[in-house]
Amino acid sequence: MDHSMYAARRTRVIEALRAAGGGVAVLATAPERQRNADNHHPFRHDSSFYYLSGFAEPESWLVLTSTGRSLLFCRPRDAERELWDGYRLGPEAAPGELGVDEAHPISRLDDELPPLLNGQPGVWFPFGGSQEVPRRVTQWLDTVRSHERMGWIMPTQQRDLNSLVDEMRLFKDEHELALMRRAAQISAQAHVRAMRFARPGCREYEVEAELLHEFRRQGASGPAYGSIVAAGRNACVLHYEAGDAPLQAGELCLIDAGCEYGSYASDITRTFPVNGRFSGPQRELYDLVVAAQEAAVAATRPGARKQDGHWAAVRVLSQGLLDTGLLSRDAHGSLDDVIERAAYRRYYMHGTGHWLGLDVHDAGDYLSQAEAPVDQPDGMGGRRTSKPSRLLLPGMVLTIEPGLYVRPAPDVPERWWHIGIRIEDDAVVTAEGCELMSRGAPVRADEIEALMRDAR
Ligand code: GLY
Ligand code: MN
Ligand code: MN
Repeated sequence: MDHSMYAARRTRVIEALRAAGGGVAVLATAPERQRNADNHHPFRHDSSFYYLSGFAEPESWLVLTSTGRSLLFCRPRDAERELWDGYRLGPEAAPGELGVDEAHPISRLDDELPPLLNGQPGVWFPFGGSQEVPRRVTQWLDTVRSHERMGWIMPTQQRDLNSLVDEMRLFKDEHELALMRRAAQISAQAHVRAMRFARPGCREYEVEAELLHEFRRQGASGPAYGSIVAAGRNACVLHYEAGDAPLQAGELCLIDAGCEYGSYASDITRTFPVNGRFSGPQRELYDLVVAAQEAAVAATRPGARKQDGHWAAVRVLSQGLLDTGLLSRDAHGSLDDVIERAAYRRYYMHGTGHWLGLDVHDAGDYLSQAEAPVDQPDGMGGRRTSKPSRLLLPGMVLTIEPGLYVRPAPDVPERWWHIGIRIEDDAVVTAEGCELMSRGAPVRADEIEALMRDAR
């Protein structure tokens, strides 16, 4: 394996540790999770651990010191266990394979860490994650404390390692972007496959099976999150997952599904008519969401703020809600009133995007911590004073995903009822604007209709 990029990332963390006064950084991969009896959920490594190690086995820890050492703790070779559970790299081969300075069996962790912490200013680990890491750190610190009479020196600080690593993860390098483009391409092809397959009478789970087939056929490890295949009224349930409802002629089907490829997520939503042709009211709202997404895409460029895309989409959607009468001018006033009072939230109640990377909701601050707080809309119809949304820079990857969801209500004409639409693409910020990595699946209504016509 070419481990140079992982080594380079570790070096950046070590430099950041030095710049912050020094110390030891500790991170563990994710725990294996029991599903039932002796049966486990499929293992998925911790994202930050993998980002810095390139190592995907369970039961492993990475330690970085500001003196420049990198240590891996991993499962030892074991012929009996490997017969049942699979091959292990083992500590003997780990330095050559992963580029770490040293590797030890996982059983050595409690022996090696206290002397490493002795005399260090602080210990860094991810805050807010697994309880196992702070529990072990406390044990190691207890050991250091018990050796103080022999001259050992206690670290005085515990600090959040996420504050260093999350900011690195936010900016994707070329290796990461290549994996993310491939993930998005596979997912787009899965959406095309699903659109071609879908027809009145088939079930949500059958459509889901088409998505999964395409993910695995092309080498993705599987879905990056629970696939949403929502027919008709189910599209108005934001976290619906694929169930067994039949797709019915005259309804829309919303699919939010993306694969994980090379440990990187993609996240795509498309909405299409089950019978291949949008009805008048469906088309009207669909084109509105397309226009909202175009406005958000145009606002996704270096120098703009993360939230600019959201407000651009909200403005287009709000104008459309007034034009269609879904929001009445009598009750809600002008476009600015609709936005200021967040009346659009009745039909558009989620944000327009999130960071995307190793995690589908990826690491990285959304606010510009270096800037002074400003008075701004809170998105709920009020205002608040808080840090501004951060400026976009090349290499950031985010989703752009406006939608509209109309539930039945006495003041809503029946032709709009149960229409749920979302369009979601994956964008990398470039020097000039942004590149949409997921456009292998059509967005424009006429292109979707043409694709579905061809499939029949
Ligand atoms: N599929 C998760 C999301 O869109 O945020
Ligand atoms: Mn998303
Ligand atoms: Mn999504």
